[in-house]
Amino acid sequence: MPNQKYCIANWKMNFTLSNAESFIQNWENKSLTNASVKTVICPSFTELSKVGQMLNGSGTELGAQNVSEESKGAFTGEISCENLQEMGCKWVIVGHSERRGIMGESDVKIASKVRRILNKNLFPILCIGETIEERNEGKTQLVLSRQLSAVIEYISPADFNRMVVAYEPVWAIGTGVNATVDIISETHQKIRNIVSELGFNSEKLPILYGGSVSDSNAEELAKIKGVDGFLIGGASLDAEKFYSIYKQL
Ligand code: PGA
Repeated sequence: MPNQKYCIANWKMNFTLSNAESFIQNWENKSLTNASVKTVICPSFTELSKVGQMLNGSGTELGAQNVSEESKGAFTGEISCENLQEMGCKWVIVGHSERRGIMGESDVKIASKVRRILNKNLFPILCIGETIEERNEGKTQLVLSRQLSAVIEYISPADFNRMVVAYEPVWAIGTGVNATVDIISETHQKIRNIVSELGFNSEKLPILYGGSVSDSNAEELAKIKGVDGFLIGGASLDAEKFYSIYKQL
């Protein structure tokens, strides 16, 4: 298993610029002494510049919540990897279930985005996960396998080594009901098996868990073998809670 752990904040569309500034002012006072835990904050596009400036020189890295698969041109409303790099971004969340479900992003589109991110030397945080219906119908393995193979089949082993996967069961996101220890443990192992079957070294792949991670369940979830950190939505909006989760990793 990788030695590095990840504590990643996905603020979604929840903050204004002043919310973001207050969060970072608070975050700047936190002591991030655990070198084995990497912290990443993913604000809205409009907060990237300011948050990037404020985080500059701190131990916390900057990420975006989405990116275009195109590099430039007539794509009204889109943001490119180059745009993100100018803001100081290093990470990009891709394939989040809200983008797959609400924005209708396909596996093919997500795979193109991952390729673009890797080509531009950014780091993708690829989200995968099943809906409750898919889990109840026994299709979890099938869904994860489809979501992973769509992306991985087209990348090189060297690029694969720069990927982070976040297992986020759709039914656990924003519901306050996290997946159980058994489900997380079993599913992370399934993901490693799928990756190995696709011919990649799954032991090196960081696999994060996401879905209602909070300051009160982080300790238990952090202990699960094969969990290399968390992608955190709701609880990452509160600097104290996010810091408490960091300390429990
Ligand atoms: P949540 O969101 O922590 O609010 O469940 C996680 C995510 O969507 O990445």
